[in-house]
Amino acid sequence: MATSILITGASGLVGSRLTELLLQKGYGVAHLGREKKSGNVPSFVWDVKKGTMDAKALEGVDTIIHLAGAGVADKRWTPERKREILESRTKSSDLLYQTLKNKKHSVKTVVSASAIGIYGFGLDNTVVMTEDSKHGGDYLSNVVVEWEREVDQITSLGIRVAKIRIGIVLSEKGGALPEMARTIKLGIGSPLGTGTQLLSWIHLDDLCAIFIKAVEDGSMTGAYNAVTPHAITNREMTKAIAKVLHRPLWAPAVPGFVLKLVVGEMAAIVLNGSKVSSSKIERAGFQFKFTDLESALRDLFEKR
Ligand SMILES: NC(=O)c1ccc[n+]([C@@H]2O[C@H](COP(=O)([O-])OP(=O)(O)OC[C@H]3O[C@@H](n4cnc5c(N)ncnc54)[C@H](OP(=O)(O)O)[C@@H]3O)[C@@H](O)[C@H]2O)c1
Repeated sequence: MATSILITGASGLVGSRLTELLLQKGYGVAHLGREKKSGNVPSFVWDVKKGTMDAKALEGVDTIIHLAGAGVADKRWTPERKREILESRTKSSDLLYQTLKNKKHSVKTVVSASAIGIYGFGLDNTVVMTEDSKHGGDYLSNVVVEWEREVDQITSLGIRVAKIRIGIVLSEKGGALPEMARTIKLGIGSPLGTGTQLLSWIHLDDLCAIFIKAVEDGSMTGAYNAVTPHAITNREMTKAIAKVLHRPLWAPAVPGFVLKLVVGEMAAIVLNGSKVSSSKIERAGFQFKFTDLESALRDLFEKR
């Protein structure tokens, strides 16, 4: 029988596409989320705050893909929102651990989302972050450190755990790209801050292929960066989007202090960047389909 995979947070950008690709490959897929959904796969409900989960969610499941987490860039970072960003990840990971520890199940593999934000922001564009690099000390790196710590508990149960440290995901359906494209189409798109901050990006389909490899490849354990080999600057990204959309780029760069005034502390996400290594996932045998930004953008904007 085909592997049966339970995906948490599956209604989001990554989970929706990953579900399509897993179904195409013949996997059995079920979703675990905050609300029961009607659709082409079974849907189960959990309440992360209360620490409860549908009793049947793990029936027949041999792999869990854990994607759940409140959107980092969805709302202004009030103290309450910051707590939600953290706890939606730590408490959901702990709920999975407690359930796997205390209930009967046949789960052998957990593949969890993580983020390259764990490294903090590179002050110097020549420093390349590998999976062994030191963690940063800012709010987001602390969130990811605590998230991974909760996920790592699951290894003590004899379950294989792989953590996919995701970079900036490029998709026409969500994340950073549609917003950048929208401002460029309106003629107000421009580099942000200095424009020299490095963006370590990945096409959504390559990211989903990494998740599928981590499900299938029993030798994958621990952390893997999921970014293409070629980080580019914020200015290069803005120019490439304008080129693919056939729009001129004339607006001046948006100064960092203006962004901070508009979105507050959250501006750190776009004003800073880091150069992240893809060597480990490539050594594991993964081949990227999209390593060139322009062809990734053409695929997203022109072929669908
Ligand atoms: N996209 C990126 O560029 C990127 C980069 C680095 C890391 N990541 C990480 O990868 C994971 C998947 O990314 P994504 O882009 O698919 O995220 P997304 O579109 O924001 O989806 C995340 C899903 O998590 C669930 N969720 C949201 N708030 C929650 C809460 N308070 N408590 C519990 N669950 C909650 C929701 O699913 P339900 O409504 O079904 O419960 C939501 O659809 C996320 O954890 C994200 O942080 C993404």
